[in-house]
Amino acid sequence: MNYEVFQGNIAEAPADTVIVNLFEGVSVPGGATGAVNYALNGAISDVIAQGDLRGKFKELAVLYPRGAMPAQRVIVVGLGEAKDFDLERVRQVSAVALRKARELGAKRVATIAHGAGIGGLPPFEAAQATVEGAALGLYRTRYQDKEITNEIETLLLVEHNAQRLPEMEAALRLASVTAEGVYLARDLVNLPPNIATPTYLAEQAQEIAQKYGLRVEVGDRAWAEEHKMGAFLAVAKGAGEEPRFIILEHNAGRDDLDTIVLVGKGITFDSGGISLKPSENMGDMKSDMAGAAAVLAAMQTVARLNLPLHVVGLMPCTENMPDAHGYHPADIITASNGLTIEIISTDAEGRLILADALVYAQRYRPKAVIDLATLTGACIVALGEHVAAGLFCNEDWLREKLLASAQATHERLWPLPLWDDYKQKIRSNVADMTNSGGRYSGVGSSAIFLKAFTAYPWAHLDIAGMALAGKGHETPLTRAGGTGFGVRLLVDFLRKWNAT
Ligand code: BES
Ligand code: MN
Ligand code: ZN
Repeated sequence: MNYEVFQGNIAEAPADTVIVNLFEGVSVPGGATGAVNYALNGAISDVIAQGDLRGKFKELAVLYPRGAMPAQRVIVVGLGEAKDFDLERVRQVSAVALRKARELGAKRVATIAHGAGIGGLPPFEAAQATVEGAALGLYRTRYQDKEITNEIETLLLVEHNAQRLPEMEAALRLASVTAEGVYLARDLVNLPPNIATPTYLAEQAQEIAQKYGLRVEVGDRAWAEEHKMGAFLAVAKGAGEEPRFIILEHNAGRDDLDTIVLVGKGITFDSGGISLKPSENMGDMKSDMAGAAAVLAAMQTVARLNLPLHVVGLMPCTENMPDAHGYHPADIITASNGLTIEIISTDAEGRLILADALVYAQRYRPKAVIDLATLTGACIVALGEHVAAGLFCNEDWLREKLLASAQATHERLWPLPLWDDYKQKIRSNVADMTNSGGRYSGVGSSAIFLKAFTAYPWAHLDIAGMALAGKGHETPLTRAGGTGFGVRLLVDFLRKWNAT
């Protein structure tokens, strides 16, 4: 989809479809909706008076100008009650309206920035949310929809005020580039595990690096051996696909800039290994690389936005498979910082590959390290599916920044404790620690395990409940499948790093 800003009266926008909005309880629309109502000789207020449109949240009405406007149709979308209105509602109404437009065969759609006028939201954020919502709502996978013919070609963001044009252009570009990042993360999660292998992910990283000017390095098994990554290699031992340790760097070598490292869990299929998972829904474990997908997509976005930061993305990628050469429960392995780990369960593999990546992050002397991982079922038990990701953090200021971005993007995080109490759960008689804390405090013990490999401001995001939407968890912004969770959050966090 192409994105453009159109400056002028929305009633005159050169588009086949025009989208305006209506708050609940408004009988005579003002602003852009008022302008369209005027052009239509009061048709919108007639529909309202008739009781056929009340402005309920996500409610839709379609009107036909019959020559009164350049557009063939007008979609009015309900914003709900003014007191409930926020940026997330903007994203959702925008998504709903654009989906309707596509369903009706629209090719060129003009929309106002919902909420920028009487909604009272800051114009930049309102425009950003409108465009993001539009793009995310229109997402489809290559596999779900084999024959896509009715794509919308152009989205026009309409701004009446010429002075706001630069601001609208900037919001449009930020939102569209970010949404394309989310698309990438969703695509990678949706791809089947026989295609989205570690090698494939590395190839994608190389292509993206080439295209947008990132430094890239891909470590193979021998490279990991050189770096003594015994924990990563233990998981990779039984893998049929070759492991890859992907490193992407934006502004490499710029010592004058703050360094932030992003780490993403890249298990391209988690069968559990010798500690085999039950077969029911095992296919969902193709999404166990969602952390790596989010980091890869965030790196692409950071490069395209050319953020003034040194950002490093680390993506340890491997399958976790049962195999005669696979690692066993009872194995003792040594991570790259020398800590020894007794394997209790080969299904607690995520923390192992992250351990070596977190140690590797240290070499960049980072101001902050953030890891994203579909790490524990226990986190889903604690917070629910598609509600919030668990947030563990060793610095209050970093937690506050992340929570602010979670709020701004509605990619929600909920803080969980990093107390030392959890350490006893992973005590081992034969090694420095075990890799599994058992049934209780499953999410706390996973985080306290990771903490042993960090020596910098650090946050761990357990995204297990957020990465893959099952049937029944579709929303206006996400269909069933990969959600791309974390991309918008990370981009917002990095973009505001220097500001707050
Ligand atoms: N990838 C899984 C966690 C997961 C479960 C993600 C469900 C998404 C949905 C992880 O590798 C795992 O198997 N964790 C185990 C840890 C246990 C063995 C300590 C778990 O949560 O059961
Ligand atoms: Mn596992
Ligand atoms: Zn896993």
